[in-house]
Formats: sequence, C-alpha cells, structure tokens
Amino acid sequence: TTSSPDALKRLAAERALDFVDSGMRLGLGSGSTAAHFVAALGAKVRAGGLDVVGVPTSESTRRLAVEHGVPLTTLEETPELDLTVDGADEVDGRLRLIKGGGGALLREKIVAASSGRMIVIADRSKRVARLGRFPLPVEVVPFGHPSTAVRIARALAGIGLPTAMRLRQGSGDGPYRTDGGNLIYDCDLGEIPDPETLDAALSAVPGVVEHGLFIGLCACAIIAGPDGIELLER
Ligand code: A5P
Repeated sequence: TTSSPDALKRLAAERALDFVDSGMRLGLGSGSTAAHFVAALGAKVRAGGLDVVGVPTSESTRRLAVEHGVPLTTLEETPELDLTVDGADEVDGRLRLIKGGGGALLREKIVAASSGRMIVIADRSKRVARLGRFPLPVEVVPFGHPSTAVRIARALAGIGLPTAMRLRQGSGDGPYRTDGGNLIYDCDLGEIPDPETLDAALSAVPGVVEHGLFIGLCACAIIAGPDGIELLER
C-alpha cells in the first residue's frame, strides 16, 4: 500500500526529483530513504532526461549510485555543490535534524555544508515536536576514546542533560567503525530543550569529530504521510 513506511520513503524521494535540474552538482545522502532517491535519480539519468553529477556521503551510497548509473564526482574535484538530498532520523518544525543512525553523519554534514541547499526526505514517523528521542550519534576519534566519552558526559551534565551513552557495536566483533575509521557513541538524551547549546557544547570537546545535530543546514523537508506530502520550508 502507499502508506507502508517504505512506500512513503519512496514517495518523498520521488518528489525531491522536482527540485533537481540538469547541470546540477548533487550531494547524495545515505540510508534507506536516500537510497530511493538515488534509484529514482538514476532512472531519470539513464532515460536521458537529466545531466547531473553526484558526491556520495558513504561508501554504500557510492556503490548504489554506480549500480543505478548516477555519474559521480568528489569534493576534491567539485568543492561546491548545488543541492544535497538526504534522509534524517528526526526533523523538528524549525528544520533542525538528528542524523547519523546509519553512521554516515560526518560525510553527510560535510556534503550538506558544501551545498547551496539541503533537502531532507522522510516519512512522517521522522517528524517530531522536539529532537532527542532518537539517540544522538557522536563520532569520536579512536585515540583515547574512553576519556573523550567522560568529557562528553561532563559536557552533557553541564547543560543539564542525561549522560547515558553506548559505544556503537559493529556487526561482527568489536565496535562499529565509520567510513572514516572513527567510533560512535550513541547518547540517550530524551527531549533536547536547546539543540543550539548542545551543538556548541559537543563541538567543544577535543576528540569529538562531529555529532548528529544538523542545525541551519536544511532548507526544506519533504515529509510523506498516508494523507499526502507536507513541505516544510524556512
Ligand atoms: C545515515 O547516517 C543517516 O543520517 C540517515 O540519513 C538516517 O539514518 C535516515 O536513514 P533512513 O532513511 O534509512 O531512515
């Protein structure tokens, strides 16, 4: 049916194609919703209707883009992009996001920040009144990471937030590694009253590479629900 979560993800992804014009340099997001966008984009490119290049935000998106015939470039070759289309784990009414459930947050943030515009595509379940129910991913360098974790906890306590966190585990033995070889602590914060303050507090911890709060990056969200599509813009 059109209201299964996967069908809604596809609906949002296909709508995002309306924002893509020939000649654009695109950021290609990661995750299951962004995968629908890459597939739809590839179909249009192969049909001869669109001339674009894309920068993938993960190794898995890179493979997917190749499979679907989307021409690729890199930020080394193409430092400035026109538009990034990506999924999110949570979107609030001011288009602040939590991302990184799939672990690609660092490249996703670099690519979004390099783009003139970022559009988020999501099914309605991602739309929240307040961010924080989804555990916030914090990416850290492996060197001294237990010490970094202690200082992340102190930073959280310092702004009145809970300090529970887990080192993300990989599918085999040992911790999960990001595409950049880093580790992720998932922080169980509950509702985040002031995402901007949290953003600054986490970014100030040495050893933290990046975190999953995306603030001031997303300009438009395409939210698909059973009763249709909602466009959020700022
Ligand atoms: C990947 O690191 C994430 O930021 C994804 O964008 C996010 O987890 C959304 O993924 P889904 O579209 O699979 O829900």
